[in-house]
Amino acid sequence: MYFVNWQREVSLEERNGQKVVVKRNKPTKQFHEFLIIYAYSLISLLLFHPSTPLTFSEIIRNEGCEMRKNLRKIGISTPMLLSMSDADLIEEYIEGGDIYRALASGGDVVLAYEAGCITGKLHQAGYTFVDNKAQNYLARGESVIRTDLGFMKKTNSHYSKSMDIGSFLASVMDLDRYGEIAKSFHDGYRSEADSKFSYLSIVIRNVLSTGFSSSSKTTLRNMLLDSRRLIGL
Ligand SMILES: Nc1ncnc2c1ncn2[C@@H]1O[C@H](COP(=O)(O)OP(=O)(O)O)[C@@H](O)[C@H]1O
Ligand SMILES: [Mg+2]
Repeated sequence: MYFVNWQREVSLEERNGQKVVVKRNKPTKQFHEFLIIYAYSLISLLLFHPSTPLTFSEIIRNEGCEMRKNLRKIGISTPMLLSMSDADLIEEYIEGGDIYRALASGGDVVLAYEAGCITGKLHQAGYTFVDNKAQNYLARGESVIRTDLGFMKKTNSHYSKSMDIGSFLASVMDLDRYGEIAKSFHDGYRSEADSKFSYLSIVIRNVLSTGFSSSSKTTLRNMLLDSRRLIGL
């Protein structure tokens, strides 16, 4: 496994006989974080829900032990953190890989249901993920584990919750089974959270999907699917 992402290079390595994932920061990490943080605030202004950006120190704290412990308390599992420094972060390797890949290769939609439950639990506890792509959820059998915690925010804001829902949906919009996956995510979310999927989350989904999609034809077809069922109109 080797991923070159925006902010980090992620590789599978072996330390003391244990498989681990090493996430090495690239020199451009802060610049890319800056772009994401300001895109978050800019979209909030354009959609008339002004939201303050995260700070760089919050991003570092979010990945640490304290936040992982908080998440465990509210019933959300994360990979075991083995070490963290300015240069890299090392965590336990989760065998099933991310759920976007699993769903793309025919994996059970229960994985999307579990991601919905995790998002709902987090919102009930007064936090949001902000970057809630399916690629940030990992599969261990039928259970789902959450990684990439950097952009988490302690807030109950309608915009931030809609960003979580919109970014998850946008990340799976290029899959053929989008309708089934979105319904499963929705059902999982509603089993934990009081609030419905808002119209704003569908607007955010449509804005983000153009950037996330690997197949614009499938994304466009899915965008035209009736969104009303999701927002309960
Ligand atoms: N602990 C892990 N076990 C297995 N795969 C992982 C793990 N952490 C990350 N990955 C894989 O690496 C990808 C990128 O990791 P992530 O932490 O999301 O980095 P980035 O901040 O660059 O998005 C994930 O989408 C997933 O496929
Ligand atoms: Mg990620």
